[in-house]
Amino acid sequence: MLKPNIEKILNEQIEKEGYSSNLYLAMGTWAEANGLPGVAQWLYAQSEEERMHMLKFIGYIAERGGHAIIPAFKKPPVEYADIYKLFDEVLKHEQYITESINDIVGLTLDEKDFSTNNWIQWFVTEQIEEEASVSGIIDKLNLMGKGNNNLYMFDRDIMSLRSIDSSGQ
Ligand code: FEO
Repeated sequence: MLKPNIEKILNEQIEKEGYSSNLYLAMGTWAEANGLPGVAQWLYAQSEEERMHMLKFIGYIAERGGHAIIPAFKKPPVEYADIYKLFDEVLKHEQYITESINDIVGLTLDEKDFSTNNWIQWFVTEQIEEEASVSGIIDKLNLMGKGNNNLYMFDRDIMSLRSIDSSGQ
């Protein structure tokens, strides 16, 4: 059985992963509406990954005899100033998620819940990969400068940058 505070923090993470999924979906629709179909595809794939993350938490809570609660999700932003700001937001969000995963790791150690500590390690690794993947995209965006031609090429090629985080599928 899970201790109540472990069950609580895992349920809170369901909300965060589900919100992440909706956030990337919303970003994807913005990209599509702004002539960036490749970026939209990348964000939709990312949204799917986040949904898988949410399902992993739901599955684990159930497996350990807890009750996974499906929460309401707040509405993600609709508008983004530009593609550069959008990816800055993605990175900031992933850093926030990394902190929340670290908080779970910390609590499992405090509570000597070594089963959950072992289980959550997958997410520790996943967050390293996700942050690296997004940082790589931001580096490429900065390198190419702000011309429309460059953005066209970036949009065409962005899906080829996904191999790095395929473990999240
Ligand atoms: Fe599920 Fe991108 O963290």
